Amino acid sequence: MSDESAVRVRSAEARDLDGVLAIQEEDQPENGGTLSARFSREWFAQAAEDEFLIVAEVGDRVAGYVAFTPREAQAHVGVVRAMLRAHPDPGAYLHGPICVGREFRRRGLAVALFRAHRERMHGAPVMAFIRADNVSSRAAHVGMGMREVAEFECDGVRYVVVAA
Ligand SMILES: CC(C)(COP(=O)(O)OP(=O)(O)OC[C@H]1O[C@@H](n2cnc3c(N)ncnc32)[C@H](O)[C@@H]1OP(=O)(O)O)[C@@H](O)C(=O)NCCC(=O)NCCS
Repeated sequence: MSDESAVRVRSAEARDLDGVLAIQEEDQPENGGTLSARFSREWFAQAAEDEFLIVAEVGDRVAGYVAFTPREAQAHVGVVRAMLRAHPDPGAYLHGPICVGREFRRRGLAVALFRAHRERMHGAPVMAFIRADNVSSRAAHVGMGMREVAEFECDGVRYVVVAA
């Protein structure tokens, strides 16, 4: 019998895209969420194909996702460009976007997703940005072992840079 609450962390596939997009949508600011950017289906599809996208699955549902990409893959995102101006950190790959569905939070999924790409990248230098007012994400990233290393502003919003 399969355990409906078991968490499986694995590479994303095309069949996961609906679930990934639903979680992303739920966490857009206009829906009361805290994500800073919206990525297209095509972008996620390419990330899955390039194996830069990992999902956490609970039962048969996508419960969370994380992208880990070379910086070129996010060069179209204004806040990423602003981060790299503030803290260039050459050689570091990008962690994020990361999002866990509301009903699956505080069960260690974000930490598990982060660990999965750290293993695949053999612990290479990594960086990300977080809105300064996103208290839960800042706590989660410190819990993952990342350090807050810089701050910057983009379009009037403060962000912190985290790195490991
Ligand atoms: C941030 C986010 C990814 C964390 O996901 P998660 O799976 O709930 O995180 P974890 O269960 O792995 O939490 C790990 C640790 O982070 C800290 N943490 C996570 N959420 C927290 C919260 N709301 N308040 C305080 N600490 C929190 C805790 O120390 C936690 O460990 P604990 O539960 O043993 O105390 C999730 O809240 C989310 O998707 N938020 C909306 C989207 C978002 O903001 N993404 C990040 C953008 S930078």
